[in-house]
Amino acid sequence: MKAQENKTGLPLVQLGITRPEELTGLFADLRGSFDNDCACAHDESAWKVFRDRWLGRKSGVLTQVTDNWLKPATPVLKRVVGQKLNELRAHVESQIEARRAAIESGAEEAALTRERVDLSLPGVIRPIGSHHLIRQVLQEVEDIFFSIGFSIVEGPEIETPYYNFEALNIPEFHPVRDDMDTFYLDLPKGVPAPLLLRTHTSPMQIRTMEKQKPPVRVIVPGKVYRRDNPDATHSFMFHQVEGLAVDTDITFCDFTGTIEYFVKQFFGPGVKTRFRPSYFPFTEPSVEFDVSCIFCGGSGAAAGGGVCSKCKGAGWIELFGAGMVDPAVYGFVNYDAKKVSGFAFGMGIDRLAMLKYGIDDIQAFFQNDVRFLKQFP
Ligand code: PHE
Repeated sequence: MKAQENKTGLPLVQLGITRPEELTGLFADLRGSFDNDCACAHDESAWKVFRDRWLGRKSGVLTQVTDNWLKPATPVLKRVVGQKLNELRAHVESQIEARRAAIESGAEEAALTRERVDLSLPGVIRPIGSHHLIRQVLQEVEDIFFSIGFSIVEGPEIETPYYNFEALNIPEFHPVRDDMDTFYLDLPKGVPAPLLLRTHTSPMQIRTMEKQKPPVRVIVPGKVYRRDNPDATHSFMFHQVEGLAVDTDITFCDFTGTIEYFVKQFFGPGVKTRFRPSYFPFTEPSVEFDVSCIFCGGSGAAAGGGVCSKCKGAGWIELFGAGMVDPAVYGFVNYDAKKVSGFAFGMGIDRLAMLKYGIDDIQAFFQNDVRFLKQFP
């Protein structure tokens, strides 16, 4: 190519060409070097350089041939140079165009292979999450109470002492406040009332009755907080479902019937239930509700001999606290204690989940180890 370029830079006389026959070899060489050049233009940018080298208007090879060979040619040579130049130009132009088309379709083909969607490839498997076991158990509990006419209400986790204590018949110096190990909020100076993290879902009994006249049938799922040191059965935050039913003719029988129905739905018809007397300031009478041990079937004995480790040989497991609403509570919500009666209960969801699914450490719920969570899809 270099040699040709040099040749096209010189007039024919200087190349020593005087006879028309000599032009044949000269043009054949030029065409050969064009063909070589053409074969090297593999992509679009190389093709552009190649095109300009041959067709560039100012200094392209064909312009040089016109300027240096044709224009100054002697009359004897001029006609043949013109003819050969035309032939060469036709060849150059058609080859350059053909090359462009080839590169373009090649690029398209390459792009097609590159971008082709291979439908036979396996898809990307994205793991689907699942509801946390606590959420699942809440759902189960809600479904059971839904089916017997309860509805769901939710309330604030930050409460006033009035709703968490006073209106539940727990005045300021009542000793049960000590059991509650409450978290009080560290508030800026000037904020009038103290605020606390609710220690139970019972404040929603008051909030619900304030808003609504009897009949009331609600359950309240939610988080509660107590200053407990974490261990296998304690956590500073856990979940409760509160229940409250108030109407003009609710008796202790309605209460026990409802609770038993729930427990049998939740744990299965085989479980036995019992009430023990207990104390809560906002229920009278108050009870502690037990089920026969789910692990040893109530026998108190472990399968391999010895005592059942879950109920410690008692055959019973304490489930939750409950009772008939204390008439004093009605006074706080403008209900007529002579006309209405009702019951309330508060159960720990974490505890229900542990019993039903055989989990022996409450902390497992909050550590969020995927290997644990995956067992409850
Ligand atoms: N709020 C009580 C607790 O957290 C449980 C309870 C609720 C007892 C409703 C009686 C009635 O211990």
